Amino acid sequence: MEAKPIATPTGLHNVPASPEADDSVLKIYGRASLSGHVSISGAKNSALVVMAGALLCSQQCRIRNIPSLVDVERMGEVLLALGMKISRDGNTLDIDASTIRHTKAPYELVSRLRASFFVIGPLLARMGVARVPLPGGCAIGARPVELHVRGLQAMGADVHIDHGTVHAYIPGSRRRLQGAHIYLDYPSVGATETLMMAATLADGETIIENAAQEPEVVDLANFCRAMGARIRGAGTNTITIAGVPSLHSTDYGIIPDRIEAGTFLVAGAITRSEISLSPIIPEHLTAVIAKLREAGGDIVEEGPNRVRFIPGDTIRPINIQTGPFPGFPTDMQAQFMALMSLCDGNSLITETVFENRLRHVAELNRMGADIRMNGTCAIVKGVSGLSGAPVLATDLRASAALVLAGLAAQGTTVIQGLHHLDRGYENLEAKLRGLGANLSRVTAAEAGTTPLAAEVSL
Ligand code: UD1
Repeated sequence: MEAKPIATPTGLHNVPASPEADDSVLKIYGRASLSGHVSISGAKNSALVVMAGALLCSQQCRIRNIPSLVDVERMGEVLLALGMKISRDGNTLDIDASTIRHTKAPYELVSRLRASFFVIGPLLARMGVARVPLPGGCAIGARPVELHVRGLQAMGADVHIDHGTVHAYIPGSRRRLQGAHIYLDYPSVGATETLMMAATLADGETIIENAAQEPEVVDLANFCRAMGARIRGAGTNTITIAGVPSLHSTDYGIIPDRIEAGTFLVAGAITRSEISLSPIIPEHLTAVIAKLREAGGDIVEEGPNRVRFIPGDTIRPINIQTGPFPGFPTDMQAQFMALMSLCDGNSLITETVFENRLRHVAELNRMGADIRMNGTCAIVKGVSGLSGAPVLATDLRASAALVLAGLAAQGTTVIQGLHHLDRGYENLEAKLRGLGANLSRVTAAEAGTTPLAAEVSL
């Protein structure tokens, strides 16, 4: 089959040209019980950073298991703007970074996808210069990038911020970063990835201490190693990178999405349904599985990379505190809050990673949940049932939480703000329908809802 260019905004998965302006809503008829099997897509956060990592190589790379998502499309647009060639065939991307012509990422593209800031590391290492606009905050927090900047400076880059853009260049005629010993004040996923990518082409050895240990960091390291990089310790808190002169072409498949898998496990728990999932890597979900078991469900391995969720008699209350991997993922906090809203008792959920990631509380309460906020803690008093209501998705994982609540609620839930959902879940509605859920995407007019204009600019 002929590969299709990724350039057209509508080229992927029926994404509207301007997703924020799309006024469609998701109508969920609740209380359906689910059954069957669901296939888990490739990991969004791996896909985004591995695409950026392809910048390091001056030959073509093939990346498999790339989900069709708005965020992936946006990363593709940033890479195209730098002069790279990208073609897509199903879930396989061919990326050719031999043709980079520009070292400045356009603001209008970076501002739409925060993760595209991560091109700064590979772009700088490969070209000796990179200009990337500051991505700014987002719905869940301010999200500064000083750890990325300080690490690049430690590797010898000259970095300054001017007119909202980070300008980085490598002084000297050889235009090579220098290996450095870097301690991260916080195990930031993005900073670890930026610095690990940059270090692959540096002169000498780089050690990143207090590095993030997330599976996506390991996936990126494995991708870089497949291109010839010399990286040890990814998945631990100390990563050592011995720089090499150049990297070569590779063919690499990314890991399954642990957050999508976790979201489906919670779908099983909240609807009290038995469902099976594959492919998943259970070790990527240790904290999520432990908490689902504590809540009364069980997860059994059915075969290699395949698990079955078995619901318990009740949903028991649990306490959760988010944290860097292997801690409980912040990207699963909202979904667990939806589940705990139906628990048999009181549950305490504490968000420690992002400062503003509890906006779904108000929306869940509109559906009959009883949740009080105290700073970054949510005290969830379980109720006997939720009721369908019109609600507004405020960020990606908050949207997933509302879908889960809608599946369990009595009556109809209408979710607005679907551009958040489309950023990170491939074919969510079709997958849920395949499990027996009753939901459909309709226009706001068809659902009798007035679009909330204030939200489209998020
Ligand atoms: C990545 C994930 C995101 C996930 C998050 C935490 C991608 C594309 N996104 O985001 O889904 O929720 O990890 O698991 O992979 N921080 C600073 N200074 C910095 C960098 C980060 O203060 O220079 C702070 C952030 O504001 C945040 C915390 O560190 O409060 C964690 O951020 P980080 O781990 O960097 O998350 P991302 O890489 O942005």
